[in-house]
Amino acid sequence: MRINKITGVNPKFIKIDLKDTLATHSVFNEHKDASGVIHFVAHKAVGEAVDQPLKYYKNNFYSLLNTLEAQSKNGINNFIFSSSSATLYGIPDILLITEKNETQRPFSPYGNTKKVAEEILDDLIRSNKAFSAISLRYFNSIGAHESGEIGEPPNGIPNNLMPYITQTAVGIREKLMIYVNDYPTKDGTPIRDYIHIVDLAKAHVIAVERLLNKDQETALEFFNLGTGIGYSVLDVINAFEAVTNSKLNYEITGRRDGDVPQFYAATDLTKEKLGWTVQKGLDEIVSSSWNWEQNLRNETQ
Ligand code: WQD
Repeated sequence: MRINKITGVNPKFIKIDLKDTLATHSVFNEHKDASGVIHFVAHKAVGEAVDQPLKYYKNNFYSLLNTLEAQSKNGINNFIFSSSSATLYGIPDILLITEKNETQRPFSPYGNTKKVAEEILDDLIRSNKAFSAISLRYFNSIGAHESGEIGEPPNGIPNNLMPYITQTAVGIREKLMIYVNDYPTKDGTPIRDYIHIVDLAKAHVIAVERLLNKDQETALEFFNLGTGIGYSVLDVINAFEAVTNSKLNYEITGRRDGDVPQFYAATDLTKEKLGWTVQKGLDEIVSSSWNWEQNLRNETQ
């Protein structure tokens, strides 16, 4: 198993659909001794969520509600939630987003599932004083483990930028479509805060320790997981071309529904309270993604 190759540990794996209430309760009934839950489950493509909102509300809420209900019933009272960034913060008036900026309705149903989920956690915590949660608001997590053993193999055609770039570079996709060059940014392409998945993963370890050590200042806390640096789509493409010493085939096309022009994270709170800082830059993000894509192709050949 890939996790074992990297860590020497073989975690127990149980495959169920968390939308299935009975199956979810059954797993938690059998694991009452668990100290907590890290809940990663969600559909996450912004454009698809605009086209198919009910699919997103059903999947993201059913799985969340079943988990919260089953774990609470079994006295498992620690919860880490994978939340989202500007998809949750709406179309920001300002670019630098602090944890206090969620004033507008999220721009996509996906973002709305994350916002309402945080409200559900707040309500649960008010009703159950033993329950504690940390909501980690991811910015654009990309990259792969440096070993090339673990990364994201997208189902079908990728929705996200980085896998689309690497699949285009290996020839699976003909060209990358850039959604669009008329945004009010330095080069007209949208700006995002791209964070290496390994940096993001490490923040979860710190958050788990914070919950288990009861170091929280409030029972529900929110932290941005971003680098604080914004890169445009063209910045990412340039970094990819430099790291791989190749030219990427791309074309500028129309806007994608649900896209926000630009944002990046305020990281002060996360640094101060979690003591977490980003260690990896855009070059490492891009080279690890490329390494992962090449390994995947070698395996499937
Ligand atoms: C990045 C940029 C596109 C594809 C993601 C997740 C979402 C959330 C935040 C956690 C955008 C442009 C993309 C392509 C392009 N994560 N793009 N051509 O939309 O910011 O959202 O991060 O909650 O779940 O999906 O990321 O990678 O799709 O897009 O031009 O083929 O690349 O317009 O500016 P996004 P993305």
